[in-house]
Amino acid sequence: MEILKIDNVSLIYQTDEAETEALKDVNLSIQEGEFVAVIGPSGCGKTTILTLISGLMKPTSGKIYLDGEIIDRPVGDIGYMLQRDHLFPWRTILSNTLLGPELQKKKTPEAVEYASGLIDKYGLGEFKKAYPNQLSGGMRQRAALIRTLAYRPKILLLDEPFSALDYQTRLKVCDDVHGIIKSEKKTAILVTHDISEAISLADRIVVLTHRPATVKKIYEPKLSGSPLARREDQSFSRWFDVIYKDVSV
Ligand SMILES: Nc1ncnc2c1ncn2[C@@H]1O[C@H](COP(=O)(O)OP(=O)(O)O)[C@@H](O)[C@H]1O
Ligand SMILES: [Mg+2]
Repeated sequence: MEILKIDNVSLIYQTDEAETEALKDVNLSIQEGEFVAVIGPSGCGKTTILTLISGLMKPTSGKIYLDGEIIDRPVGDIGYMLQRDHLFPWRTILSNTLLGPELQKKKTPEAVEYASGLIDKYGLGEFKKAYPNQLSGGMRQRAALIRTLAYRPKILLLDEPFSALDYQTRLKVCDDVHGIIKSEKKTAILVTHDISEAISLADRIVVLTHRPATVKKIYEPKLSGSPLARREDQSFSRWFDVIYKDVSV
């Protein structure tokens, strides 16, 4: 079932000095439960696409639909995970993950139980009362993902969420995040400029052109297993070469 549709979307940033055409006629359809990576060079318009999906900004032309309804304002059904974990240092891990329900004034016992259950399920149970600075970078990203899930979003938007981590941690956190998203059966859109990351995580890879971004190619590598297992797959480097050529010309 189609959950998200980007229909001929263009976006022009207007500032006093200049007009910047960021997106041009972007079309994309995403199915429920899919993990899609959107890849393209720095500054091509990746974050812009996520901002439009989140409803924080409207397209200059074209429309975006979530479950058949036009997105024209910020909607609660979308979870956003960023490069930095943005956990509040003065809140415990449990209270950080309850931020969403609190802001929505829905901090019911059921919501607390759900967030608390996710923390247990994904290995942070003993850190519920700990503060973010007591956790490693990888654990903090996991906590940030759990906080995003506690909103019960229909779609997760991930904006280069691993790029602030060192290489070893990044591999581990990729595995974690992929496992959690798949076991919670969430639809996810990851934007990244890292080709290996896209191939190891996504069911489908959308390659964008330079700015103004439009969809250049879509690939479906059909690798299976965890991101680490996919990196070991014999076709991994072949996919890397194909996509590298697309991104660099
Ligand atoms: N708020 C803004 N006002 C004006 N220009 C912007 C704004 N945000 C982004 N841009 C420009 O739009 C282009 C795409 O930006 P962005 O979507 O952040 O790219 P990416 O995430 O792919 O690196 C860039 O040239 C950037 O400078
Ligand atoms: Mg960006």
